[in-house]
Amino acid sequence: MFDKFVKLYNGVKMPILGFGTDYLSGDMAYEAVISAIKAGYRAIDTAAIYKNENDIGRAIKKCIDDGIVKREELFIITKSHWFFPGYEETLNSFEQSLKKLGLDYIDLFLLHHPFCEWPSWRKDIAYSWRAMEELYNNKKTRAIGISNFRWPYFDVVFNSGKILPMVHQVELHPQYKNKEAVEPCLERNIKIMAWSPLNKGKVLEDKTVKSLALKYSKTPAQIALRWNIQSGNALVVKSCNIDRINSNYQIWNFELSDEDMKKLNSIKPCYNGIRLDEAVLVGDLSKSRYFSILENYINRTYSKNFKLFGVIPFFKIIRKNANEVVYYLFNIPICKAKIKYYNQAIWSENG
Ligand SMILES: NC(=O)c1ccc[n+]([C@@H]2O[C@H](COP(=O)([O-])OP(=O)(O)OC[C@H]3O[C@@H](n4cnc5c(N)ncnc54)[C@H](OP(=O)(O)O)[C@@H]3O)[C@@H](O)[C@H]2O)c1
Repeated sequence: MFDKFVKLYNGVKMPILGFGTDYLSGDMAYEAVISAIKAGYRAIDTAAIYKNENDIGRAIKKCIDDGIVKREELFIITKSHWFFPGYEETLNSFEQSLKKLGLDYIDLFLLHHPFCEWPSWRKDIAYSWRAMEELYNNKKTRAIGISNFRWPYFDVVFNSGKILPMVHQVELHPQYKNKEAVEPCLERNIKIMAWSPLNKGKVLEDKTVKSLALKYSKTPAQIALRWNIQSGNALVVKSCNIDRINSNYQIWNFELSDEDMKKLNSIKPCYNGIRLDEAVLVGDLSKSRYFSILENYINRTYSKNFKLFGVIPFFKIIRKNANEVVYYLFNIPICKAKIKYYNQAIWSENG
């Protein structure tokens, strides 16, 4: 009923529905990716920042060795390390990802967040994109793209680069249409790929989504994923649960009517967490850069210690449990942050 692949403007065939691996690590990432490949997913999305490329690589190798899939049937997506823009940095980031994944080429390499209002952002993005073009020209990656761009960052890639991105990966679900990030790409034949297509689970609580699930005898997740596909987007969805991994892939045998698509299009915007791309600058500092660093620590590590001259501990961030992080200045707790996850099992099992 619906083609499972899309052709990028450079002719490369990309699976429309991919498997996301953010917040998956260790054996949970390994098992989830194997389950996803067995369920039918052929695109697997990871990133340097997810710190799980080794585990994804192990899972890919296992599936190939067991004859479940051939390398050329898979479409592996990874992303440059967002803290380190620049020409050499991007090339290094690519080589590290390739090594961790145990592959000799990538299918789609994305330049991750350009949250960089620091003075050299224009130069940094331009040099990073030059490295991306070189990787593509040298056939190290079959396609290149960007993630979480908007104006004025688009300007550097669109107007000073030689090759347009083939894909733009952005947050996109019925509760966030993200027009500023989407429209300039559609005008240039750049394929949109949605991340967090379930709004990290939140969209499943929406009453329109729920009522359409009843109407079509589908799960709310299948309705939300189908909305993205019928809107013309590719997408990557994550789950660590085998039943949900399977059911999220079963979205090919039904179609939402135009009227129901209109209903989903008119859902009120709603999204979770700090929006890095809308962070406000404080003084001369790029708050968004600090936010992204903090967010990284909050979400991905249990504790982090900062030391003066590498010796005197002055600032630390400790994850107390799955829901709480505490910041300490010279051992005095100065801030507590609450975190909400839909998949808390990951933290308790890996902790
Ligand atoms: N480029 C970027 O900056 C960026 C940013 C964020 C994400 N991404 C990519 O996009 C992928 C997907 O986004 P995401 O992981 O943020 O969120 P998502 O796919 O929108 O939602 C994942 C959440 O929904 C739950 N879920 C999945 N299927 C479900 C179902 N059928 N019923 C009920 N709950 C379900 C999952 O829990 P369970 O695991 O317990 O099922 C998980 O908590 C990521 O994994 C990553 O690869 C990219």
